[in-house]
Amino acid sequence: MPRSPLPPVIAPSILAGDLAQLGPESEASIAAGADWIHFDVMDNHFVPNLTFGPPVARSLKTHLEASHPDTPLDAHLMVRPVDPLIEAFAAAGADSITFHPEASDHVDRSLRIARDAGCRTGLVFNPATPLEWLKYVLDLVDIVLIMSVNPGFAGQRFIESMPAKIAEARAIIDASGRPIRLQVDGGIKADNIATVAEAGADTFVAGSAIFGQPDYTAAISDLRQRIATANA
Ligand code: DX5
Ligand code: ZN
Repeated sequence: MPRSPLPPVIAPSILAGDLAQLGPESEASIAAGADWIHFDVMDNHFVPNLTFGPPVARSLKTHLEASHPDTPLDAHLMVRPVDPLIEAFAAAGADSITFHPEASDHVDRSLRIARDAGCRTGLVFNPATPLEWLKYVLDLVDIVLIMSVNPGFAGQRFIESMPAKIAEARAIIDASGRPIRLQVDGGIKADNIATVAEAGADTFVAGSAIFGQPDYTAAISDLRQRIATANA
């Protein structure tokens, strides 16, 4: 199966950390080897949970700019309507903004809003959402995010049929010739990350597999090693 040509990125989902320690938990994961901080925005409407708004993103970004200015803040928006919050999270300092096509009335317009605001853009595919949404907007997309759980909560179990969908997304990206990242989110653990990498993913969100472990450095090193072995 084709692998990604891009270097792997590990993006801890801060939702699975101690939310009373958002800054220190993010910093600890970066010190432990994380590449991006994944920030899950939920509205209790598009998904059945309620998390953070733009002011929280702004505070976290300010905190990270002081300590780790090169670490991107990766905002995963699970909200509807999405357009006003794309603008708000871009203004709050998000470096990438991904959203679900079902949450947008005009997907092309929403992608352009994110891009015009200077963010990396991405479309997120729920487990049952077809990849056809990509067909006419690939040139506006920097990230394709395949959900390997139904969105709403950290700590859910990886859906076993998703590697086939990841491989389909890999083929679409390869045919585009563009350096689009293929991100996977939900239930990623040491025992399945190699399968996800073999299917062609290059950007790995992990919540409980990092923040649920006593030693973040050991957890991230283990994930990275398994990706490297899969890609070798
Ligand atoms: C689920 C979120 C995920 C989640 C990941 O809706 O988008 O980012 O927090 O957590 P784990 O890795 O524990 O599934
Ligand atoms: Zn997420």
